[in-house]
Amino acid sequence: MEVVIVPDAKAGGELIAEAIAALVRRKPEALLGVATGSTPLPVYEALAAKVRGGDVDVARTRICQLDEYVGLPAGHPESYRSVVLREVVEPLGLGEDAFMGPDGTAEDVQAACEAYDRALGEAGGVDLQLLGIGTDGHIGFNEPCSSLASRTRIKTLTQQTREDNARFFDSLDEVPHHVITQGIGTILEARHLVLLATGEGKADAVAQSVEGPVSALVPASALQLHPHATVVVDEAAASKLK
Ligand code: F6R
Repeated sequence: MEVVIVPDAKAGGELIAEAIAALVRRKPEALLGVATGSTPLPVYEALAAKVRGGDVDVARTRICQLDEYVGLPAGHPESYRSVVLREVVEPLGLGEDAFMGPDGTAEDVQAACEAYDRALGEAGGVDLQLLGIGTDGHIGFNEPCSSLASRTRIKTLTQQTREDNARFFDSLDEVPHHVITQGIGTILEARHLVLLATGEGKADAVAQSVEGPVSALVPASALQLHPHATVVVDEAAASKLK
């Protein structure tokens, strides 16, 4: 695992956007796995600026989702499908056909999870998966105690994560209790994992993930098992590294 410490979130965004651009120049039809939440926004902004500036052509690039709320109606502005379309797909000038994600509205959620895992494989696998990290060390929505071998499945959000995400909704009551998330085993199949963490609130989770033992109690510690994992942290998020 390589750890890169950058001065701030913007620098982290630039660095990762350049890594994505380099991948796409090498492999124009790359499958790029994206995360939602606040952390990756500087990456998406920097990448969209590169596309607008003609620095990279993403016309053939495909985008896939890491996780999705269960039960939000199709088109709900906070469903991760809507968020990824708004924050990534549209700014990159791509259409919905370039995008794949799990169906959080499916009647048979388990079947939707299995179908998504299969679809990722059939698409050739994820070339670069961008990850954020929860204050409790989650990746995707694999909360502590998730199996390190887990596949895409339904998970119950912890109260902490629901509270962390309540800022995107009008009230805590509106935050769904369940999500579909790529499993840790699924995430580990991506060819390159890039985790971005910014701000002091992530410092403990980063230190445990990078310097602690590999443990299901800290899902992001599974990155230590991956042959090509890059952790990009700003100085605040790096503040508890030894
Ligand atoms: C969301 C996701 C989550 C977030 C994490 C951090 O798709 O995968 O693991 O990355 O909850 O969220 P922020 O970046 O909002 O602090």
